Formats: sequence, C-alpha cells, structure tokens
Amino acid sequence: MGVWAAPGRVNIIGEHTDYNAGFVLPIALPMTVTCRAEPRADDLVTVSSRQRPGRSVRVAVPDLAAARDSVPDWSRYPLGVAAQFRARGLRIGGVDLDLDGAVPIGAGLSSSAALTCAVAIALRDLFAPDLTDLTLVDIARAAENDYAGAPTGVLDQSAALLCTPGHALFIDVRAFTRGFGDTPAHATRERHGHADTDGRADARGRAATHEGADDAAGRADADGRADAAGRADTHQGADARRRADAHGRADAQSHAGAQSRADAHGHAELPTSTGPGVVGPGSDPVGCEQIPFDLPSFGLELLVIDTGEPHRLADGEYARRRAECEAAAAALCVQSLRDVADPADLDRIDDPVTRRRARHVVTENARVLEIAEKLRTGANPRDIGPVLTAAHASLRDDFEVSTPALDTAVAAALDAGAFGARMVGGGFGGSAIALVDRGRADAVIERVRERFDRSGFRPPRTFAVRPSAGAHRLA
Ligand code: GLA
Repeated sequence: MGVWAAPGRVNIIGEHTDYNAGFVLPIALPMTVTCRAEPRADDLVTVSSRQRPGRSVRVAVPDLAAARDSVPDWSRYPLGVAAQFRARGLRIGGVDLDLDGAVPIGAGLSSSAALTCAVAIALRDLFAPDLTDLTLVDIARAAENDYAGAPTGVLDQSAALLCTPGHALFIDVRAFTRGFGDTPAHATRERHGHADTDGRADARGRAATHEGADDAAGRADADGRADAAGRADTHQGADARRRADAHGRADAQSHAGAQSRADAHGHAELPTSTGPGVVGPGSDPVGCEQIPFDLPSFGLELLVIDTGEPHRLADGEYARRRAECEAAAAALCVQSLRDVADPADLDRIDDPVTRRRARHVVTENARVLEIAEKLRTGANPRDIGPVLTAAHASLRDDFEVSTPALDTAVAAALDAGAFGARMVGGGFGGSAIALVDRGRADAVIERVRERFDRSGFRPPRTFAVRPSAGAHRLA
C-alpha cells in the first residue's frame, strides 16, 4: 500500500509549441492529485474517486484494453494508464486505486495530467520499478491520447512528472520525444485522426479530458487545496533530494552537446546561442533542463487568475489548431514549425489564418528561448514580464485561443502594475497568470475583481503559486 501525488502545472511560456516539436517552460503547482494504491490478490483493477463516492469501477487486468468503450469517461484516465502498462508488455496485477483531487479543474492547470501521472508513478513503484521517467511521460500521454481520447501534447505530463521545486523546466520537445520512438504529434494523428485535413476536428478529445478529470478529481474547495499544498510541501524535501544530483549534472552539462546532438540527427534546429539544455544519461532526460525560478528572493509573486470559464475544448478547437499548424508546416515543406527560425519565411504561406497560427508558434518558440536565457543567466525574473505579455497578444491575435475574460484579467493585472501577464494552457477559458511585486499582489487582485464585476463576469478565483515538486510518493 502507498500514496502517491502528482501536481498540476502552469506553463510560464511556450503555449501550443509542444505539438510543434518546440520549446516549453512549465512549473509544477503545489496542488496535487493523490492516488492511494493497494495491490489485490486477484486480477481486478478498481478505481474510485473521493469526488465520486460510491461509484467505483472495476475491470480485470486482461480486459483493460477492451473495456475502454464501456467504462465511464472519468475512469478512462486511471484505467488508461493501467492499459498502457499492459500495452507495453509490463505486467501489472490487481490493484485498488483511490483518487483524490485538489488541482482546480477546468482551470487550464492540467488536472487530468496530475491524475494520470499520480496513477503512473503508483503503478511504476508497485509493478515496474525500473521504468524511466521518460517512459512514464509517454505512458501518461498515451493514456490521455489513446484511452481517454484527448489529443494533448507532452507538456502537461512532462511537467507533472519532471518539475522540481524552485525551478522552471525547460523542455526541447523534439530532443525529449526522440526517446519515445514516435513524436506525440504523429502518434495522435495516426492513432486517432483527431483532425482531418480541412481542419475539421474530432470534438471527443478535449471534452473527455476535462469532463473526465472534473469527475475523477473534482473541483477542490479551499480546505482541500490547503491540505494538498501542505502535503506537497512536506514531501518536497525528499523529491528535491532525489533530484539534487541530477540538477548539478544538468546545470553543468546544459550547454554541452546541444548543437552536436542536433546535427547528428540532421534536423534544422533554431539557431540559438542559449542551447536547448540537452543533458546526458543519469540526469534529467535528454532535452530537459531545470532552470532556477526563484521568485521570493526577488520579492515577486506569480498569481493565477482562474476565470471560472471552464477550459474545455469540446468544440474541437484544440485539434483544429493542431491541424492548422500541420498545414502550415506542410506548406513550408518542413517537418514541423519548430524548423522555422525566421518569421519572414511565413510569407510563403498563402492562407492568412494559417500564416497567423504559424506566426504564433514561431514567435512563441523564440519567446521561450529568450525567457529561458534570462532566467538561466540570473536576470531578475521581473524582466520576463514584457515577454509574457507579448505571448498573450500572440495567443489572442494570432492563435485566437483567448477569451474576453482572459483578456480582461490580463489587462486589469497590467493596469494595476503587474510586470507581465498572459493566459495559460490550451485557452478557450481557464486561467491567466500575472507576475507581480509581492507588495502589489492585493492591489492587482482587487483590480481584476473590479474589472470582472464591471464586465459581468463571475468573480475570478486567485491564488499565488510557486514552483513545486513533480510527482512523488507520499507514504
Ligand atoms: C493543453 C495540452 C498541452 C499543450 C497546451 C497548450 O494543455 O494538453 O499539451 O498543447 O494545451 O500549450
């Protein structure tokens, strides 16, 4: 028996770049989903959720794959993870999985990845202790893509599993996903065909993700959140220790080998003096780099403003954006938009909408590299503010995934003195972040509330977050 926890995430920068083989820079939140797991003598996998009392689901291990279409949506997240273990030839036995969620749901903070990753590390520790973190990321991603039917990239699962306290996690997704043997973009397209070539999208995925996660993990109340944060804090020390050596090596090696690795694979890499932080075996996975993100010592706070508009891509807009990005890459004859370094190249795309989508991705990749370099070289984190705000404009105007409430949150935060602000996650609702001076946090929150009230939006939920631990065992 044991208890495991995995966090939600906020992406500091790098939105809609993961499925374009680009760059992302998330932090883990203090709020987690917990999974209490106990092996059984028989071969049943049972899942229950504190947020759905009395509605547990049970499936025999050999039936996991076939059960996909007959189990309730919410249970597809944990069962999908178990099915992925089986699909990879990993033996698992019967097990009771009891879930409890404290990551705000539908807020664009990746409660679904927190759920799958909590189950993934529980099953790893109980049945397959040699599995690498990289494989776990792929298992959690595949559970969402293939079993729950949500066409996500790897951002959320990577953050939930690999983030460390006090750091932002820089990921060069192309380098990182080479280890999977298949890119997430290809895997999703081939297995599901979520979006057809005209950009018509399969709506199933996102609806399933967030409704399912809502059901499984539940929207936590204030007490629940406080408790979850507390438990996460208690165990961060152990997690930090577990990764301490890795950090040292990662930092030391972060620049070495980046270019040669890129050359060896023959891909056109974005020209970057920063280097993608490629590190070797025995430390963080290839393509990942832990970059210190120490807000308190600079007197800063990162506020999350949850608009309360459910982040739900039920209408298939997320899948449509993916298809538009693929169309842009095809028009430019590149493998992915990651391969476009110069925005001027985008003039070769005839369709203006496709061109704008691509411009977001290309400029967003550059923004990730810029922020990563600033943080890596010890700049005051407030200096990243204008880049965050530019990212919001790009998501709003070029990628068109923002909403009036998100725009209002960002504008009000900036008016009240935030150094930078932007929407986070997939968009179409969910949350914004604002980087603020600790002394201005209350004023910023007040201004956002006033502006929401005046605009007729329901009151937002606001809370400060700090870079917290990735998935870990609690007990
Ligand atoms: C969602 C997806 C991620 C990523 C973000 C946008 O959160 O699950 O994979 O694409 O949207 O950056």
